[in-house]
Amino acid sequence: MLPMVDLKIQYQKLKKEIDKDILNALTNTQFILGPNVSDFENEAASYLGVKHAISVANGTEALHLALLAAGIGSGDEVITSAFTFIATAEAINYTGAKVKFADIDDKTFNLKVSEVEKCINKKTKAILAVHLFGQPADIDKLQQLCDKYNLILIEDAAQSFGASINNQQTGSLSLAGCFSFFPSKNLGCYGDGGMVTTNDNDIAKSIKSLRNHGSSERYHHHKIGYNSRLDELQAVILRIKLKYIDRYNANRRRVAKIYTENLKDVVITPFEDNLGTHVYHQYTILSDNRDLIAKALNKNQISSAIYYPIPLHKQDVYQNEFKDLILKSTESVAKKCISLPIFPELKDEQIYKVINTIKSIF
Ligand SMILES: Cc1ncc(COP(=O)(O)O)c(C=O)c1O
Repeated sequence: MLPMVDLKIQYQKLKKEIDKDILNALTNTQFILGPNVSDFENEAASYLGVKHAISVANGTEALHLALLAAGIGSGDEVITSAFTFIATAEAINYTGAKVKFADIDDKTFNLKVSEVEKCINKKTKAILAVHLFGQPADIDKLQQLCDKYNLILIEDAAQSFGASINNQQTGSLSLAGCFSFFPSKNLGCYGDGGMVTTNDNDIAKSIKSLRNHGSSERYHHHKIGYNSRLDELQAVILRIKLKYIDRYNANRRRVAKIYTENLKDVVITPFEDNLGTHVYHQYTILSDNRDLIAKALNKNQISSAIYYPIPLHKQDVYQNEFKDLILKSTESVAKKCISLPIFPELKDEQIYKVINTIKSIF
């Protein structure tokens, strides 16, 4: 079966480097906040063009701690998308703030700025913009809204490591950028991992303390914090993969280009809005015939996935709050979307097998 993402090929290619560096880290035994963690943070900050990169346990924690450090809490409202992984909204709930879902643009799948503006009221404190599937959100316009209404902008860059707008990296375009290193992400480790990026010294200081039990000096605790550190072995993997991220993203874009050239007449292919560089964490098409497509792909030993079948405001957990909320574009996209296999090592014959299988239906 052709998988959505094949991590085995990538490991085989990096095996020598990874095995050697993991062995060194095992021999060194500095497993918590060790040298690879700080080296990775410096290397990631330099790659992303930010003053601070603070690694944490996972992407959900990156969002949670960034919101806390930005002063978000009970009584506040944070506007975000309902077409994303639930962690984006959960993190807002963890702080005690209320989630406000705004509709998306049905072409880019990212927040639609005019819809965001409709959600702003006296309680609104922040906008949490997701760069969904690797395509940068309209950060300039969202920042203009934030300036107009005195709001904080935070990026969920979990799916967009290496994506950029005018050569500036996603995650560096707001008060704080939040990354996930879940194994299947564009930059993924071999377990859970995450990171917050910021140019603000106070936010950086606060996150460093929050991730480590509210302490900046051992056994001195000035607030209730968390155990939310990236572990040394994951940092080893990330340092190695960071060296290849541009190549990986270029290959993803190559695969996407071939898909789009060949599928644009039979389905709605991803729209690139030229605001920035899309890094295709997912290649997601829209079709009224998505069930037929999924069935044909499966029959031909090709995986596919629906990201996301149920928008967040329709999830059971949010029914008390959002039963009557209608988000037209979000709901329409969720009914038609289907994602195809995409990873840097995908071979031409595999790409064309996917294309020909889909074309054979129409
Ligand atoms: C958009 C988005 N936000 C947040 C997360 C949460 O990241 P993690 O799984 O590392 O906690 C993910 C990925 O899983 C994601 O895709």
